[in-house]
Formats: sequence, C-alpha cells, structure tokens
Amino acid sequence: MTQRVAILISGGGSNMVSLVEDMVGDHPGRPAVVIANSPGAGGLAKADALGVATDVVDHRAFKGDRAAFEAALHTALLNHQPDVICLAGFMRILSADFVGLWQGRILNIHPSLLPKYKGLHTHARAIEAGDKEAGCTVHVVTPDLDDGPILGQASVPIHADDTAEDLAARVLTEEHRLYPQVLRRFLQDFSA
Ligand code: GRF
Repeated sequence: MTQRVAILISGGGSNMVSLVEDMVGDHPGRPAVVIANSPGAGGLAKADALGVATDVVDHRAFKGDRAAFEAALHTALLNHQPDVICLAGFMRILSADFVGLWQGRILNIHPSLLPKYKGLHTHARAIEAGDKEAGCTVHVVTPDLDDGPILGQASVPIHADDTAEDLAARVLTEEHRLYPQVLRRFLQDFSA
C-alpha cells in the first residue's frame, strides 16, 4: 500500500523537490502535501509546479505561542493523512509533545555528519575546526534537537580554500541524493 508523505519546508525547498521527483513509479511513497511555516517560502511555488498540494501555517501568526502553532500544524497535517513526515529545510524546532504525536514517523535532514555540529552554521564550524570532511545526515526526529537514530549519511571533502558557501553547495548536492534514497528504504521497511 502506498505511503503518504508530508514534507515540511521553510525556504527554497530543494530537498523537497528531490524527494517529490523520486516518488514515482514503484516507489512505496507518494507526496501528500508540502507545508511551509512561511507564506514566502520559495518551495511552495515549486510544489505547485510539481502538482503537490500545499499549505501554509505561518508561525508568525502565533506570536511565539509554540503550542498554538504546533496545534495548527498538526491539524493541517491531519487534513492530508500522512504516514510519514519529512522535514526538509524546515527551520522550526518541534516540541517533544508534537514529536510524540507522530511516534518515530518524522525524518529530518541535517547538513552535518551528526553527532558533530548539531544546530546551526554547521559548515562554518567544520571549516573553523579544520575538519577534512563534512556532510549530511538523515535521522529520525526525537525530542532532542538533531539527535535521533541515524538512517543515512553522506560525506564530502573540505577543500583548503572552501568558504562556508562553497561547502554548503557541495553538501546540498549530496543531500539531494541521500534523502530520497533513505526515504525509499524507510518506507520499504515501514510497509514491510
Ligand atoms: C540547506 O541549508 C540544507 O542544507 C538544509 O536546509 C537548507 C535549505 O534546504 N537541509 P532546502 O533547499 O530548503 O531543501
């Protein structure tokens, strides 16, 4: 039975595009909805162009009331009956209560080789530390930020003259390959 996948975005949605474009043919999943926490998210137009339903739950409308924002987000998700939720460039931190509602069915992609560099500015931190490699991680979302069981990783070299932007671009290319690969496998295991 085909699994329904909701994708949450905050910005351009390049990871969302990679996930949607992979969910064709014999893929065990299909995109159910793309939800953005900002009406200005560039990924909304990309989702429209790909024929995927979209919704916006603007976190600014809840003026810092995280519980109210998450209740609205949960309602929006329930409207589309997802089996799995993929955070893809989604920049809001979800509470333990919210994560608990979805019992291990939320995935996230983080632009570092976790457990190194949880949080923000991962590429600048890796360069600053003199690391020779960086990368990205797809993991199950748990109440602790960037901390859940790791489902897949991809690494890239850091070049001596790399800026954080150079490294971010190199890692993003790997994200677009890794996330669809991990989601396909996760859904195959999920529906087994
Ligand atoms: C990128 O920095 C990516 O590394 C991280 O989220 C940001 C935006 O990604 N996962 P996207 O283009 O919105 O998918």
